[in-house]
Amino acid sequence: MKSMIAPSILAADFANIQHEVEMLNTSEADFIHVDIMDGLFVPNISFGIPVTEAIHRHAKKPLDVHLMIQNPDQYLESFRKAGAEVITVHWEACTHLNRTLQAIKALGAKAGVALNPHTPVELLADSLDQIDLVCIMSVNPGFGGQKFIENTYSKVSRLKQLIQEKGSKTLIEIDGGVNLQNAPKLLEAGADVLVAGSFVFNSPDPIETIAELKSI
Ligand code: DX5
Ligand code: ZN
Repeated sequence: MKSMIAPSILAADFANIQHEVEMLNTSEADFIHVDIMDGLFVPNISFGIPVTEAIHRHAKKPLDVHLMIQNPDQYLESFRKAGAEVITVHWEACTHLNRTLQAIKALGAKAGVALNPHTPVELLADSLDQIDLVCIMSVNPGFGGQKFIENTYSKVSRLKQLIQEKGSKTLIEIDGGVNLQNAPKLLEAGADVLVAGSFVFNSPDPIETIAELKSI
């Protein structure tokens, strides 16, 4: 299967959000990755439901909404109504992950679980049949433009093995510090979806950069 690319709108120009979304529409991107930060679960605040809805209004690609927030259960329905196709919650923020995943599915969205860099993939062994996508954080969540954590490769291979053992169809997404240097190794280890923020938006030609990532 060809890799999927999810540019992170966090690195876009928020003053020209319509233009940025329209640019992504014309690209080979598979998703638009939308980072929601609450200033509690992570030490930064990004934006919330109305901005997600505004992005969705212009988007022709599915929104992959990454909730870096406490109490995600409280906001699942709002983000679904705002246009989220994939809703990803953090393992570390969910006391009753099984229930949260059921709630996401009941809303008709795909269910994702994100793991912080210190959280072992093995903790998902008994949940994989419920999870459409696992987002392996390759930086500490909260900011774009950080350095990629090398231990990620081993997490991807271990998770891929678990998925194969369980026979599930769960996709592996990598989020943080992704670029053309680490992308081939990540795909080789078993990644399916690559999130890229600053690497795409800070490049001279984001459409071409997305195409390059897609062509690996
Ligand atoms: C980090 C976010 C990432 C971020 C990726 O907390 O979850 O999605 O936008 O940005 P880059 O690609 O610049 O690391
Ligand atoms: Zn993210």
